[in-house]
Amino acid sequence: MKNELTRREVLKKFGLAGSSIALLSACGRDSTPPLRPDARLPNDAAPASQCDLTDGDIEGPFHQDNSPSKNDFFTDAVGGVELLLVGTVKNSNCIPLSGILIDIWQADSQGQYPDNLFRGRQLTNDSGEYSLRSIVPGRYLNGNTFRPAHLHIKVGSGSSELTTQLYFPDDPFNAEDPWFDEARMVTVTSETAIRIEASYDFVYDN
Ligand SMILES: [Fe+2]
Repeated sequence: MKNELTRREVLKKFGLAGSSIALLSACGRDSTPPLRPDARLPNDAAPASQCDLTDGDIEGPFHQDNSPSKNDFFTDAVGGVELLLVGTVKNSNCIPLSGILIDIWQADSQGQYPDNLFRGRQLTNDSGEYSLRSIVPGRYLNGNTFRPAHLHIKVGSGSSELTTQLYFPDDPFNAEDPWFDEARMVTVTSETAIRIEASYDFVYDN
């Protein structure tokens, strides 16, 4: 009598007969399960998003350290078109950054930089967002021509601080301004004779 169990008998004993045999046989040939055509290996993840860094621009002579915590300059305005600017600060992987210092200063409707007005600091919220209620800045003479309407802005602090300026579309003095950059124009989302709503997202690596 044959004492040795056949392979089939062992499999049957442990309930692995029938289709399980075919399965074990298949696994024995190749233990790597076939990939579906659309399957992706973990290290084949989609590449991270890439956002282009916002370029820097001149600081100009009117920045002040320690400006107030403030994102509503409109209450101090005399004349001018109301401006509501919103946006997000992201890093170069397009991830919103919370708690980033935003320091804005600008001219009043007459193109002047009052010492204690039209300047203020805020931190981006949990979604990386900032907002400003103000007026469209007035133009001022630079040599023989006017600088177009612009906002001065610092994003972040320390060695990674970004100093830049934002511009407005359709300003007739954009073209001849030596610092104007189309990439730093706000996007106007709503416009009436008395109010402009606009947006701009900064891309900044801290
Ligand atoms: Fe300026």
